[in-house]
Amino acid sequence: MKSLEQRIEAHIDELAQYTETPNHGVTRVVYTEQDTLAKEYMKKQMEELGLKIEEDEIGNLFGTWKGTDRKLPQVWTGSHLDAPTHGGKFDGVVGVFGSLEAIRILQQENFKPKHDIILVVFVAEEPTRFGIGCLGSRALTGMIVPADLESWKDKDHISLKEVLLQNGRNPEKVLSEELAPEKIKNFIELHVEQGAVLETEQKEIGIVDDIAAPTDIQLIIHGEQRHAGSTPMSIRKDPMPAAAEVILLVEKLTKNNISETSVGTVGKMVITPGASNVIPEQVELTIDIRDVDANKKKRIITELSKEITTILDERDLSYQFSIKSDDVPSRMNEEVVQFIKKSCEEVGCSAKVMASGAYHDALIMSRRVPANMIFVPSQNGISHAPTEFTATAEIATGIKVLARTLEKLSK
Ligand code: GLV
Ligand code: MN
Ligand code: MN
Repeated sequence: MKSLEQRIEAHIDELAQYTETPNHGVTRVVYTEQDTLAKEYMKKQMEELGLKIEEDEIGNLFGTWKGTDRKLPQVWTGSHLDAPTHGGKFDGVVGVFGSLEAIRILQQENFKPKHDIILVVFVAEEPTRFGIGCLGSRALTGMIVPADLESWKDKDHISLKEVLLQNGRNPEKVLSEELAPEKIKNFIELHVEQGAVLETEQKEIGIVDDIAAPTDIQLIIHGEQRHAGSTPMSIRKDPMPAAAEVILLVEKLTKNNISETSVGTVGKMVITPGASNVIPEQVELTIDIRDVDANKKKRIITELSKEITTILDERDLSYQFSIKSDDVPSRMNEEVVQFIKKSCEEVGCSAKVMASGAYHDALIMSRRVPANMIFVPSQNGISHAPTEFTATAEIATGIKVLARTLEKLSK
């Protein structure tokens, strides 16, 4: 029989093979072949453990370990399998195979849960394809409205609705996927920290109390496409220098002058047509602003929008500023934070209560049901990069803490 450590390494190696960018990290985008293959692998693993498999219309995968009293609300555990462009081998998957292995530990101990335990694999936690993260948990919490199906588009301008149809899925049904919150007792997500707090403080487990939430903005600046050699500087309508000013503005506004916990990122820019000797016709950029303080984040967005207007008006450029998603930071369930502390004592590991700068499906789920997270360290605090790394022993500790916590919640 394989050890827990051997199983962890086998899952990591197997899942890392499903990537669109071999040798350049893991890229697994929702509804692509690689994403489907990763899901198939997990489905098989879940079946081998005797879980009953179901998939909903948007593509969330569920594996049920039946409890002895099926009328009781369920205990959910899981995370996501998709990965951002050139991401790592650990983000998301640790919480998916980690939940599987936590269930295996409990089964091997002959534990019989009273409540159903559901292993959930959320679809599209990363915003890679549609610019919006957590599609699966948003569907389950009733946070997708009909207009979103049309307005959320991928890089080829294909809407979520069309993509669902192409994949043989029913968009109408996606809208009615919302779960009755009373059906779920708890949701608990194991994840890599993606920051350096645990490593710096030499703690084995992070117990999350707050999750910072992003506001995702799309800014399209329209210019006038002309020749780079023959157009004098005085008559240009060039969207690129304007974009540069906006990028510096994002840095200025999030660098401590309004909030100590805010962060701001311009991670994606699309320049059209994108040629060295052409003044661009258009520049599109994404702006990701996050904070654990909802009011301060709001002030930053208001200031950002005001100053962008000034910059672009002065340059006589038209633009569209659209808020694609605007999530509120969330607190985790306090009672379960105490259960996780107790689980850490039982496992014999050190722990720290901490905030999460990254967002997770737990952020979305927490709007409807008690949600919590367990973190394991990330080497050098690196994530969303091919160099993301967490040692097997550290993941094993996280899985053991998860198992002890699931036991408490489901007995
Ligand atoms: C999730 O992947 C995030 O961007 O925080
Ligand atoms: Mn991620
Ligand atoms: Mn993640």
